[in-house]
Amino acid sequence: MSADHLLTGRVLIWDGNPLIEGPEAARIEEGWGVLIAEGTVAAIGPAAALREAAPEVPETTYGRDLIAPGFVDAHVHYPQTRIIASWGKRLIDWLNSYTFPEEMRFGDPAYAREVAGEYLDLVAAHGTTTVASYCTSHPESAEAFFEAAAARNMRVFAGKTCMDRNAPEELCDDAVSAYDDSAALIARWHGTGRAGYVITPRFSPTSSPEQLEALGALWAEHPDCLMQTHLSEQTDEIDWVKGLYPEARDYLDTYERYGLLGERGLYGHAIHLEEREIDRLAESGASLVHCPTSNTFIGSGLFDMGGLSARGIPVGLATDTGGGSSFSMLRTMAAAYEIGQLRGRPLHAAELLWLATEGSARALHAEGLIGRLTPGAEADIAVLDLASTAAIAQRAAQAEDAWEEVFATIMMGDDRALRAVWVGGEKRV
Ligand code: GUN
Ligand code: ZN
Repeated sequence: MSADHLLTGRVLIWDGNPLIEGPEAARIEEGWGVLIAEGTVAAIGPAAALREAAPEVPETTYGRDLIAPGFVDAHVHYPQTRIIASWGKRLIDWLNSYTFPEEMRFGDPAYAREVAGEYLDLVAAHGTTTVASYCTSHPESAEAFFEAAAARNMRVFAGKTCMDRNAPEELCDDAVSAYDDSAALIARWHGTGRAGYVITPRFSPTSSPEQLEALGALWAEHPDCLMQTHLSEQTDEIDWVKGLYPEARDYLDTYERYGLLGERGLYGHAIHLEEREIDRLAESGASLVHCPTSNTFIGSGLFDMGGLSARGIPVGLATDTGGGSSFSMLRTMAAAYEIGQLRGRPLHAAELLWLATEGSARALHAEGLIGRLTPGAEADIAVLDLASTAAIAQRAAQAEDAWEEVFATIMMGDDRALRAVWVGGEKRV
């Protein structure tokens, strides 16, 4: 076997979906290893057996650190990097006061390039190896992001945000240019290297029916692209949508009637859903994206993880940078735990880690490539030090099993917990 590197330590393994089958569907194997060859996982198993199979290969020994799949952040806005943690507004005011003025700066390709590189370096330092990002309405902002990701060999999903009303003039495209610019970006980037294109209408208040229809047609022409948007985040947003689309049965119907509901659809937030919406989401196979730090930070509400995942709706996990208050998927898992508690569904550490890796990968239809350490998967790996601060170390020392140790890092950890991050088989952090 021609391999490049062997990582040994404690290895996180998914045997099934812990959200459905329970924590027994996950294992932490001590004294195991991950053998990397040509950017992919060649084998996993007991370290001794891997050493024997590939005796010449250099080994990095991580001891009691947890070797996990790199985190997959299923909903971010990279252009909001510099306005993260902006005080005191709820969704619509937050967009108008902080977000739109910042997004206007991305008309300058040099600025877009600078923030895209800075953002990707920041998230990699937090163990995140894949994101699904909104860009701004400027096609150059998507170019800049895909170029920055290609330079770092990161698997990313992204799209030019489309909006043609209820936003500043400088940020508005129109139905035709949204279709044409998105189509050109699909031709240039979808399937190029590790990039995937995501058709991206921001949300129905900032798109005309004509624009949603054009993007529905574009998706029908490119059914292997993902489509991402926002759904039912705040109650006054929902009232606004009802006023703008009086003929629609509900918020989801503003997408459904224009061909924007489907299996490769990703709907961020999805907090205040009606029964018909839940039924249609379950029937369509679409995915929801839980953005817990954003939902508390902007004051949106408490996502029903228990109820929605019990309906068989796939759920991914996301920071929603910069509506979310952290770049860290550890912090995001902690917030998901806290929201679960408030809704009577405490999530086990295995469920939280699954959401941040394989769960998000499945939502992005990238399972088998990312989210799981298994032969053939891309070697995107986050190595977690489970005693990264004095506070965590003293708690971990009391742990009776590995999950209890991992839970302390989920609840209290940050970028200091990343011992190493491997991207496409290369050590990046
Ligand atoms: N809804 C429409 N646009 C946005 C955005 O940028 N962030 C969040 N959190 N919600 C949105
Ligand atoms: Zn968002």
